[in-house]
Amino acid sequence: MRILTNVVMVCLISVFSIFAVDAAYGGVSNSCVKCHLTLKNKGNALINLNAHNWKDSIHRKAGVECQACHGGNPSKPTKAEAHIGVLKPGNPKSMVYYKNIPSTCGKCHIGEFQSFKQSYHYKHLEEIGNGPNCITCHGAMATHILHPDNIANTCKNCHNYRLAIDPSVPKKAEMMLLMLSEGRLLINRYADDYKTGHTAEPASFRKADKNFNKAIRSWHSFDFDKTTSYILNMYDDLKEIK
Ligand code: HEC
Ligand code: HEC
Ligand code: HEC
Ligand code: HEC
Ligand code: HEC
Repeated sequence: MRILTNVVMVCLISVFSIFAVDAAYGGVSNSCVKCHLTLKNKGNALINLNAHNWKDSIHRKAGVECQACHGGNPSKPTKAEAHIGVLKPGNPKSMVYYKNIPSTCGKCHIGEFQSFKQSYHYKHLEEIGNGPNCITCHGAMATHILHPDNIANTCKNCHNYRLAIDPSVPKKAEMMLLMLSEGRLLINRYADDYKTGHTAEPASFRKADKNFNKAIRSWHSFDFDKTTSYILNMYDDLKEIK
């Protein structure tokens, strides 16, 4: 539930900035947004595109602005002043240097980061540099989360015979996500029933709900056996409900 506290905090901080950002399109407030949306592409198309991607992202809706991931000072109108602290992604000190991305995102997505730290992916990223980081799967502006029908292709970029990185992973990942989304549907259906107040919420449902949350939390450790066992425990708990 730490993510909830975070979300609440972020929301509180940003209730005002959401409006400010909207107003920015009229010409006020966050200078990064204001300037970048109007930049012409000179060589590096990302300079302008990223601002546009961000505009349609869940982060924008949640009030997470440029400086949360890049640093800098969005209250300064000139590039020179606003950019103090903003570093290029290739600079090892940058918040968005590929190895620093998990901890940058992890400031807010604490549970995902904790779980991710236990993965082979994190180990490889730290030691060798070829493991995926958060943006490999979510995109830099985090506009998308993967679903069972599109996850395999992302994993296949590395998990294939050519690179000899466990090629059985994509299929397994698809199954794993299907299990999670079926679990989510089921838990929500029970929860809706109990919300109506016609039936009291039994203890075994609460156990099932806990196990489901453990399964979700364990996803980013990419330990499929562990995640599967939580899901199976969830089904066992649900069976106890009359
Ligand atoms: C007045 C215009 C302006 C403002 C304000 C501005 N930028 Fe930029 N920014 C640019 C331009 C122009 C570039 C293109 C690179 C260059 O020419 O140095 C750029 C490049 C970048 C880059 C790419 C890396 C780099 O340094 O080249 C990042 C990241 C970035 N800006 C983030 C931000 C953030 C975060 C803010 C707000 C805190 C911000 N910018 C405010 C104009 C601006
Ligand atoms: C949720 C975090 C996040 C937010 C919010 C965010 N960015 Fe980024 N941005 C990133 C990451 C991570 C990268 C690095 C992508 C990579 O390495 O390919 C990036 C890359 C960029 C780049 C390309 C730099 C280059 O030289 O390749 C620019 C420019 C940029 N962002 C500007 C912005 C602006 C302007 C905003 C606000 C309108 C913004 N970003 C909001 C995470 C974020
Ligand atoms: C300043 C806090 C903050 C930072 C930094 C941040 N996020 Fe977020 N993120 C949020 C909030 C708030 C939401 C929207 C509420 C939610 O669903 O959790 C969100 C939503 C998301 C979602 C969508 C979740 C969903 O359920 O649809 C993804 C994926 C995501 N962020 C990934 C990232 C990645 C990747 C990075 C780093 C590049 C990052 N975030 C950096 C606060 C942050
Ligand atoms: C190898 C791919 C991959 C990597 C790396 C990855 N994720 Fe995810 N992430 C996913 C998938 C797939 C889901 C959807 C899981 C589901 O349906 O419950 C997800 C879900 C999420 C969500 C939404 C959780 C929710 O319950 O709504 C957030 C937030 C998130 N990831 C953040 C991160 C952060 C932060 C990092 C880096 C520390 C990261 N992810 C690294 C694949 C990845
Ligand atoms: C950028 C490359 C890259 C991407 C993309 C990637 N992985 Fe990996 N993954 C690795 C590497 C490297 C290892 C470590 C392999 C080893 O130790 O032999 C690994 C290991 C794993 C492991 C544990 C070990 C194993 O072989 O079973 C799992 C599970 C896993 N990845 C799942 C995924 C899933 C799911 C996705 C897609 C959502 C994904 N990976 C995407 C590079 C990647």
